[in-house]
Amino acid sequence: MEELASLSSMRTRYCGLLGEKDLNTQVTVCGWVAHRREHGEHLAFLDVRDHTGIVQCVVDGGLEARTEWVVCVTGILRRRPAGTENDSLGTGAVELTECTLLVLSAAQPPPFPVEDRIDADEALRMRYRFVDLRRPRMQRNLRLRSKVLESLRRSMVEQGFCEVETPLLWTPTPEGAREFVVPSRLRRGECYVLPQSPQIAKQLLMVSGMDRYFQVARCLRDEDLRADRQFEFTQLDMEASFVDAEDIRRIVTDMVQRAIGYVTGSHPDMVSTITWRESMDRFGTDKPDLRSPMELIDLTQCFAATEVKALSGPCVKALVVKGNGSAAQVGISRNILDGLVEHARKLGGKGLAWFRVKDATPGSVELDSPLTKFLSTDEQDGMVRACNVSAGDTVLVVSDAWRVACEVMGGIRALLLSGVAGQKLANGSGTGEDGTSEDAVQGRNMSLVWVIDFPLFDGMDDAGNLVSAHHPFTMPHPDDIGLLGSDPTSVRSLAYDLVLNGWELGSGSIRIHDPQVQRRIFSTLGLSDEDAASRFGFLLDAFRYGVPPHGGFAIGVDRLVALLAGESSIRNVIAFPKTQTGYDPLTGAPKEVSPTVLAELGMSFRGVR
Ligand code: AMO
Repeated sequence: MEELASLSSMRTRYCGLLGEKDLNTQVTVCGWVAHRREHGEHLAFLDVRDHTGIVQCVVDGGLEARTEWVVCVTGILRRRPAGTENDSLGTGAVELTECTLLVLSAAQPPPFPVEDRIDADEALRMRYRFVDLRRPRMQRNLRLRSKVLESLRRSMVEQGFCEVETPLLWTPTPEGAREFVVPSRLRRGECYVLPQSPQIAKQLLMVSGMDRYFQVARCLRDEDLRADRQFEFTQLDMEASFVDAEDIRRIVTDMVQRAIGYVTGSHPDMVSTITWRESMDRFGTDKPDLRSPMELIDLTQCFAATEVKALSGPCVKALVVKGNGSAAQVGISRNILDGLVEHARKLGGKGLAWFRVKDATPGSVELDSPLTKFLSTDEQDGMVRACNVSAGDTVLVVSDAWRVACEVMGGIRALLLSGVAGQKLANGSGTGEDGTSEDAVQGRNMSLVWVIDFPLFDGMDDAGNLVSAHHPFTMPHPDDIGLLGSDPTSVRSLAYDLVLNGWELGSGSIRIHDPQVQRRIFSTLGLSDEDAASRFGFLLDAFRYGVPPHGGFAIGVDRLVALLAGESSIRNVIAFPKTQTGYDPLTGAPKEVSPTVLAELGMSFRGVR
């Protein structure tokens, strides 16, 4: 903390930084009254709080200053009398005595206590966000966010990137979400669109010769809100010319590792790289959390000739939940198993088979499961061998098409790692009861993974057209371009994601700069030349004037900060977020607008209320 740099004429010290060096000197602190305790007839203890911490001030008991009043206190810092020290406070060995107290602002009682362990409803916290943000945890989160941004910016500048701001009043961008629309007053009947990301603008900047661009960009997407999603969020967005995918990944890795090191003091473990296909195969997700060694086991061969329909594939994937190694243990309880079966169905699976291992000795394998009696001895032995289980373990099995089997098992794995029915079933680092994780705060146990070689297309839309997995400017993998006509769904792309502890932290790709390839992709997506020209014509037009090969990336800053703060929701690292329903309890937005404003825009709402 650079104390002197931010002191002012009103105060000479910060509350939480007072200590030995200030003993027996006169100091002035400013802040909020955290607590007041009367001490005898004539004295009161005021705990005065600023963003650095709290100091106890001994004041005249006749002076009025209640909780959350804003005060300025001048006094002499003294050691507390022996036996009255408070070890839980950074300044617990000292106190301000002989104080003069100046009330700067009286305050109503706060709607909830300003302390970390509160159980106030989140809507109430957001209604009084200005009070909520006074809590040490929220102060720490916002300051951590500022440090992360500072570090990301520094890394970009040092790697030769130039910061350029791009418009918020913009035109549709192809990130796949619904867009926020802003009606124009001067051009009645026409609308701007708020950018889902600066994607097209940054590609134009490459045509402009900016060479290396970055921006701390606000992005807006009208999509369902979740713990890791807000309408408005911040990306560290970057783009570079004359680069390949590895160049971009090197630049981003350096930037993210530096930011993590800067705020936690320790560099994350080595960054690993995995292809999308391998990630799906081994972890059942494209966002693998590698902090747990738990992997999917392929049992397709083992059940290749099975009579049991529920295990007949085409793909059979399993997970082992370790017991405590004792034969007396029965494996996972029926209750939890029923919950897992239900969860597998919700994830799109037909069900989930389970086998509780009573004896794993080759030749006398004993499995507790409704399916055991239908399995041959070879199948039982084969499963026990492939899964390398011992008595007390439980094997969970899903059989389906490859992608479904992987995704269902990936969902089960995630549930197991987060703890099921209050019971931790596998080793993984979860979050504490208040949603924070000390590991994250300390920078320990971070799993940073590059997922590469994503498929170019991701399923079909309602009209039967292929949908881009990333966006339509993503370059197909050069080895797969020949498959675009014959087998488009197996075409890989030069797109990559960075995943931190099972969260998609960011994504990017090498872009198409060849108009012929771009035209092919548009036609595979079912976009006619006219459609493409009307939506992205200005970009395609720009490409006719000399476009360098280029690629880029965007980091979700809110997610990075939440992970580093050990928060399970990005709302806790955003100063003024929206609720799950997109409402802002503080300002009341969204609100009706006056008829005059609507009239100026040439608009009226029909049949809304
Ligand atoms: P993408 O759409 O994957 O890529 O977004 C990049 C990253 O932004 C974050 N993110 C969000 N964070 C909070 N709330 C949201 N609603 C939200 N949506 C996305 C995620 C995500 O990984 N233009 C491309 C990037 C590129 O190709 O350069 C893009 O926006 O962390």
